[in-house]
Amino acid sequence: MQANHHHRSNQKINRREFLKTLAASGGAAALAALLAGCGEAVPTGAGTDSAAGVTLDLAAPENQSLAAVGGALAIGANSLDPKGMLLYRMNESTVLVFSRRCTHQGCVMGEFKDGVALCPCHGSQFDTTGNVVKGPATDALKTYPSTLNGSTVTIGG
Ligand code: FES
Repeated sequence: MQANHHHRSNQKINRREFLKTLAASGGAAALAALLAGCGEAVPTGAGTDSAAGVTLDLAAPENQSLAAVGGALAIGANSLDPKGMLLYRMNESTVLVFSRRCTHQGCVMGEFKDGVALCPCHGSQFDTTGNVVKGPATDALKTYPSTLNGSTVTIGG
């Protein structure tokens, strides 16, 4: 995984600089440019998990891959889904959320890479709308409703 190969030893300072740059230059475009320079690393995000649902702050460094349209993120097991979730930033106002549970035999799906998530067990593939692009799975990934408000993604039950 190539995440954070920039300036790992100076992470704190660079994060601050990075956020300043974002604020100064209009956010998404700067982030997209930065991510493009980082290769295709897809970090595993972190969020807040409670009975009311799961929330993620897109301003947090571990979730920054979702801050730009076209970005993707994988999160681990939580109170809504024991297999974790795949998230995809479809447009400015929408984050799509899927279960990582493969609809073939229930393995945990890998992250979205070049728009496709691969199941390590028997090779099923799903696109960023959750639909099957390659079997043996035949059913789309389970989806979760979500809202994006400012930089906060709230995933409902
Ligand atoms: S469990 Fe995913 S392809 Fe079989």
